[in-house]
Amino acid sequence: MSDILIRPYIAADRESVRQIACDTAFRGEPAEKFFQDRELLADLLTLYFTDYEPESSLVAETDGQVIGYLTGTKNETRSLKVIIYNILPRLAIKAIFRGTFLKGKNLKFLFNLAGSFFKGELKSPDCSRQYPAALHLNIKDGYRAGGTGRKLIEKYLDYLQENKVRGVHFGTISDKAAGFFTKLGFEVLFRNTRSYHLDILGQVVNYYIFGKKLL
Ligand SMILES: CC(C)(COP(=O)(O)OP(=O)(O)OC[C@H]1O[C@@H](n2cnc3c(N)ncnc32)[C@H](O)[C@@H]1OP(=O)(O)O)[C@@H](O)C(=O)NCCC(=O)NCCS
Repeated sequence: MSDILIRPYIAADRESVRQIACDTAFRGEPAEKFFQDRELLADLLTLYFTDYEPESSLVAETDGQVIGYLTGTKNETRSLKVIIYNILPRLAIKAIFRGTFLKGKNLKFLFNLAGSFFKGELKSPDCSRQYPAALHLNIKDGYRAGGTGRKLIEKYLDYLQENKVRGVHFGTISDKAAGFFTKLGFEVLFRNTRSYHLDILGQVVNYYIFGKKLL
């Protein structure tokens, strides 16, 4: 693999980030396994980070091509307010016009998600007081296991420390990612199992919240 450059996100990276987000949305595999509507899913996964707090995100580039990203926020509570009150209402209207809720796969996923909600599987502790920042990290298939994820995390943690952020946390349903974050010194703050992908995987998934104190 050629040299990897880790640099701040710029507006010209927006489409690459959205594409990688969809290509890796199902535990590192393409979103189509559980969801049909890339445009809407890319909005859900990346819009806050690219359009409201772009200064907190990074990309990995090689040969002029973006091959991975870390989208972050210094304050998850603040980002959730924007997402809930500003982004989600717009996306709900967009989904209605696009017919997103009428597609079989999407209906099935929403139904499964509702099932997890009523079983109490989506409950988790609020870690945002001690660990205010959050992140999402994804590397394109074919470019993994080459040190890029580690470099993105290290640069992001430096950025958070420069900004006097006391900690960072995030959730994942990927056991592989859990191994990676454990290796990088993150602590498991919470763990449970969730059944919303049972129909696709034939088993429940482990859900982890990882955290790291920075100050
Ligand atoms: C998880 C992911 C971000 C890791 O990035 P990466 O570039 O593949 O990982 P790196 O090569 O930087 O690995 C860094 C270290 O972690 C170790 N590591 C990576 N995956 C591991 C695993 N599953 N278990 C244990 N150690 C692991 C590596 O061996 C390496 O150790 P070293 O520095 O001592 O050699 C990347 O593989 C990815 O995007 N996967 C798909 C999407 C995903 O799961 N995203 C995370 C969602 S939160």
